[in-house]
Amino acid sequence: MRNFFRVSDIGNLNEAVKEALNVKANRFAWKNLGMNKTIMLVFFNNSLRTRLSSQKAAINLGMTPIVLNIGQDSWKLETEMGVVMDSDKSEHIREAIPVIASYCDVIGVRSFAGLQNREYDYNETILKQFMEYSGKPVISLESATVHPCQAFADLITIEEYKKCKRPKVVMTWAPHPKALPQAVPNSFAEWMCAADVDFVITQPHGYELDPEFTQGAIIEYDQMKAFEGADFIYAKNWSCPGVTLPDKYGQVLSKDMSWMVDSAHMAVTNNAYFMHCLPVRRNMIVSDDVIDAPTSLVIQEAANREISAQVAMKKILEGLK
Ligand code: CP
Repeated sequence: MRNFFRVSDIGNLNEAVKEALNVKANRFAWKNLGMNKTIMLVFFNNSLRTRLSSQKAAINLGMTPIVLNIGQDSWKLETEMGVVMDSDKSEHIREAIPVIASYCDVIGVRSFAGLQNREYDYNETILKQFMEYSGKPVISLESATVHPCQAFADLITIEEYKKCKRPKVVMTWAPHPKALPQAVPNSFAEWMCAADVDFVITQPHGYELDPEFTQGAIIEYDQMKAFEGADFIYAKNWSCPGVTLPDKYGQVLSKDMSWMVDSAHMAVTNNAYFMHCLPVRRNMIVSDDVIDAPTSLVIQEAANREISAQVAMKKILEGLK
């Protein structure tokens, strides 16, 4: 594997999940694979899980991780080409990327969508510059439109907890005070559409995700109807993707609290597990009783982030040989 960005990068999905479960049971078995190799973990945005799980995954494989917080540890970087650099941004990404690459073998990048310009975000302008100018394999650690390490961890978790061969998985939009990117729901949709599950997305009108990620999903605007018989509920907020409402891209269209996942919603499911990628706003996205119930898998999903990152890094290291 060269880069880890889209679900197709991981190859056969069933095989990848099997490999993940094997890695989970034997996480130190490939300690020599990353010997004398360095991974640079570049963060343009905040993180708890991705930062820690990526470092742990690299260490499990014998790699040395180096974390760089852009603008805090480093100079502020200019990411636009052709601008007069008279702002507070002291270095251009065009020089910074090859410099970073000269110190490492693999690069992970966290770079959220700006939510101002859909074309800029959906072209993955920053991640693609890392792919183009580094000459090194690149892992998206949540870039403008995708979060593959999260979606893979979510799929591993569903595989571990499913009670039937083909469970019903429902991703629901839920309210949030701020405008959030679409990377997590895009990737979750993309991975669920490729997995052996019945996948339903429920959202208010205007929140339709890019069809590039949702081919094969059932879209149901009635949230309670969508929840009926569900085995897994995956809650997430996202801002307007600009698909049906192009002029509203990146905006908050609704804060309708009736979309918060509470016990009344969960009551119509098939005793469903509750999932969320975290961080989560309690009593906005999900009520305390639902997230604190034994059927909540939020910690298990987060723990599996170490495994999804390790499988992605393992496949990249195997490709370097
Ligand atoms: N889910 C996730 O990516 O968490 P962090 O933003 O804390 O890394």
